[in-house]
Amino acid sequence: MNLIAAVDNNWGIGYDNKLLVRIPADQRFFRDETINKAVIMGRKTLESFPNGMPLKQRLNVVITSDTNYKAHDALVVHSIEEALEAVKDYSSEDIYVIGGASIYEQMLSYCDIAHITKIDYVYKADTYFPNLDDNNEWVLAEESEEQTYYDLIYTFCRYERKQ
Ligand SMILES: NC(=O)c1ccc[n+]([C@@H]2O[C@H](COP(=O)([O-])OP(=O)(O)OC[C@H]3O[C@@H](n4cnc5c(N)ncnc54)[C@H](OP(=O)(O)O)[C@@H]3O)[C@@H](O)[C@H]2O)c1
Repeated sequence: MNLIAAVDNNWGIGYDNKLLVRIPADQRFFRDETINKAVIMGRKTLESFPNGMPLKQRLNVVITSDTNYKAHDALVVHSIEEALEAVKDYSSEDIYVIGGASIYEQMLSYCDIAHITKIDYVYKADTYFPNLDDNNEWVLAEESEEQTYYDLIYTFCRYERKQ
C-alpha cells in the first residue's frame, strides 16, 4: 500500500486546510499515480478539494466519525479498519493513502511505499507528514534529478519500508 504526499523541508504538508503550494508537474504526478486506483483520505482533505468534490476516475474512500456524512459518490467510512475493508478488492499497489496528516500518521504502519515530493523550502505549516528520514524502518530508495518551478526546487522521492 502507498502513501503519497508533497512535503517541505520540515515535512510540512498544509496550512489552514490548504496545500502549502501547488506545483503543476507534481499535481500531474499525483494524478498519474492514482488514476483508476483507490484513494483513502480524511474528511478535511476531501473538503480541501475544489467544491469538496471527490477525485474523478478513482475510488474515493473518506474517513470521518460523522455517521451522517455524505460526500457525493465517495465511499464514507468511520474508522481505519473500515477504510481497509472498503479497498479489499484492490491489490495493495493500487491503494494510495492521500492524507491528511492524521490519516498518514494512522496508516503509515500499513504502507510499504511512500511517494514523497520534497520541496526545498520552509512554509508556514500546521500539519506534517511523519519524518521518514528519521524513521529507521524506512529508506530513501530513489530520488529524481532536481526539478524547478519558477524559483522552487523539488525532487520526486520514493521511500520504501525496509525488508
Ligand atoms: N501536501 C500534501 O501532500 C497533502 C495531502 C493531503 C492533505 N494535505 C493537507 O493536510 C491538511 C489536512 O490534514 P488533517 O490531518 O488536518 O486532516 P485529515 O487527515 O484530512 O482529516 C481529519 C479528519 O479525518 C477524520 N478521521 C481521522 N482519523 C479518523 C478515525 N480513526 N476515525 C474516524 N474519523 C477519522 C476526522 O473527521 P471528522 O472530524 O469528520 O470526524 C478528522 O477530523 C490540509 O492542510 C491539507 O491541505 C496535504
